[in-house]
Amino acid sequence: MTILVTGGAGFIGSNFVIDWLDQHDERVINVDKLTYAGNLNNLSSVESNASHVFVKGDIGDVALLKSLLSRYKPRAIINFAAESHVDRSIHGPEDFMQTIEHRQGLKIACPEEIAFRKGWINEAALTALAQPMLKNGYGQYLMQVIKESDYESH
Ligand SMILES: NC(=O)c1ccc[n+]([C@@H]2O[C@H](COP(=O)([O-])OP(=O)(O)OC[C@H]3O[C@@H](n4cnc5c(N)ncnc54)[C@H](O)[C@@H]3O)[C@@H](O)[C@H]2O)c1
Repeated sequence: MTILVTGGAGFIGSNFVIDWLDQHDERVINVDKLTYAGNLNNLSSVESNASHVFVKGDIGDVALLKSLLSRYKPRAIINFAAESHVDRSIHGPEDFMQTIEHRQGLKIACPEEIAFRKGWINEAALTALAQPMLKNGYGQYLMQVIKESDYESH
């Protein structure tokens, strides 16, 4: 039998794969994009294990996933593929939004933006909320919302 693991070159995923191959006699298909977080060195101990099939690829690549599913027919899929570094979530929040929205199908809402667009708070109140967050992308995004609404109203 076979299982499919995604993000298996990352911290948790690689430990799972190594442990799985040690404990079970079952093939692992390991799909990882090898982003900044993925590292094949994490998997060096299972490099020559015939039950480990590593595939460099993106879980957003539907054609690739379809072909792996039909070829290997895994009985289970375990997902560890993620944007998971806290510092990166502060410096580049867009990547996290995209991963959640594209891969998990959830829409992320900004409560401050909704309150402003609904007219529950005014421009001064939104500016006051955005000010302490100007060092991160979210504060700048809220200021952009104000700028665009000024532009739209003229
Ligand atoms: N690290 C922890 O202490 C911890 C604790 C609890 C839960 N988790 C959760 O476990 C999961 C994995 O965490 P981690 O610490 O191993 O993360 P990690 O960043 O070390 O690994 C993520 C892996 O996913 C891969 N990846 C990212 N985007 C991909 C994509 N689009 N397609 C294919 N592969 C992709 C990366 O290359 C990397 O190998 C996350 O959901 C995290 O929230 C982690």
